[in-house]
Amino acid sequence: MPIIGNRVPPGPKGLPIVGSAFDLRDDPLNSMRRMAREYGDVVRFHVMNRERILLNDPELIHQVLVMQQSKFHKSELTRRITVRMLGQGLLISEGDFWRRQRRLVQPAFHRMRVNDYAAPMLELAEAHMGDWRDGDRRNMSEEMMALTLGIAVRTLFGSELPVGAADVGRAMTFLMRYSLRRQRAPVRIPETWPTPKNRRANRELAFVDSLVYRIISERQASGNGNHNDLLALLMSAMDEDGSQMTRQQLHDEAMTLFIAGHETTAQMLSWTWYALGENPAAEASLYAELCSVLGGRALTLADLAQLPYLRAVMNEVLRLFPPAYIMARENVEPVELGGYEFAPGTTILFSQWVTHRDPRSFADPDAFRPERWLDGLEDRLPRCAYFPFGAGPRRCLGEGFALLEAATVIATIARRFSFRLLPGHSVIPEPLVTLRQRSGIHVQLHAR
Ligand code: HEM
Repeated sequence: MPIIGNRVPPGPKGLPIVGSAFDLRDDPLNSMRRMAREYGDVVRFHVMNRERILLNDPELIHQVLVMQQSKFHKSELTRRITVRMLGQGLLISEGDFWRRQRRLVQPAFHRMRVNDYAAPMLELAEAHMGDWRDGDRRNMSEEMMALTLGIAVRTLFGSELPVGAADVGRAMTFLMRYSLRRQRAPVRIPETWPTPKNRRANRELAFVDSLVYRIISERQASGNGNHNDLLALLMSAMDEDGSQMTRQQLHDEAMTLFIAGHETTAQMLSWTWYALGENPAAEASLYAELCSVLGGRALTLADLAQLPYLRAVMNEVLRLFPPAYIMARENVEPVELGGYEFAPGTTILFSQWVTHRDPRSFADPDAFRPERWLDGLEDRLPRCAYFPFGAGPRRCLGEGFALLEAATVIATIARRFSFRLLPGHSVIPEPLVTLRQRSGIHVQLHAR
């Protein structure tokens, strides 16, 4: 029993043994929102006899991520879902090892360096529209995945993808569904059993792994000297004691940046086209801003600072459709939160999906209204009421990179095309490791 003392947070009783497992498996987003509505800021529920705590108060989330962060680790849950793909990469490593790696990788994400990537981002976004024609029907989820993969490979590895983007995309999608379904399944079959799904997971993992290793090997063979990409920085990064990353560490960090670096941004962009397609007034305002700032000339890095409506659209997309829609921590020592005491090892969850739609922080919370960001809302919000990139020392390392990429891609594409969802196609959020769309976003393109 992870609760210490007499006070126990309220929460659903759920079914015997399985607890709330089926509700969460079938519809995690609405289940969490319902729990927050019905039980308040600290909710206790069970999944397969294991207790979980859901925090819905921004101040308590801030306590976990910032004020009392040293008492928490990433949760076992997160590690189990990601460890096979990411090894000891930054996203899940802990303690001194994490600190060292973060110190080594961080310079690669310095604003000045990240700005260097604006040119390839622009070029690839332009090139991606090369075969788009007025009236075409496209699945924007696939389009954005292919584009962000291309950008990740170019900026990370300075090369083109050695195989088709579609193959990598398919492998990633399978691996995410596989890890998450395993995690959510009431009964877990060991990974070593040769079931068809386990065998395919091994194949897909070996395929993605071999790609990353191949790129590292080619670079090691050809020399790092004349490259100016993230891999070159990782390979030459040196700690104060003169040590560098091993091949395994390089692999884990490159894989982490590769996956973290394209998957989340692809989802953000896909949701942008959905939101704009459903909200023609917002789409028109964005287009008007792009025309007035850019006229007929090409977009440059400097222009992005002059596009407040674009920034508001991005904020609003990250609010309503946060690619990282849930986070988890486990306390490594006793901790007090909201008047409750938790014993070490308690799994504590908080969800951007829930918090970003809380009417206490956002009026008319389910509506897509970029205008709400135009008058300084971000500065007035309570801490951690809006946290698409997390908070505290483990805050997203790639935030600047992601925002630059998203702004560049949205501005480039929205100048040339508008989108309408195909009639009868409903877009359903699919909360996998990131917030995806169950059957894509199928639109018709309209050339400007
Ligand atoms: C819209 C895009 C993105 C979103 C919403 C996002 C969100 C997040 C969040 C919420 C975390 C914190 C996780 C936690 O504390 O448990 C995180 C961590 C991280 N992100 Fe991102 N991310 C995005 C893009 C990127 C990109 C483009 C990169 C790299 C190129 C990246 C690399 C990382 C890394 C390395 C960490 C781990 C940092 C650490 O623990 O030290 N992310 N991200």
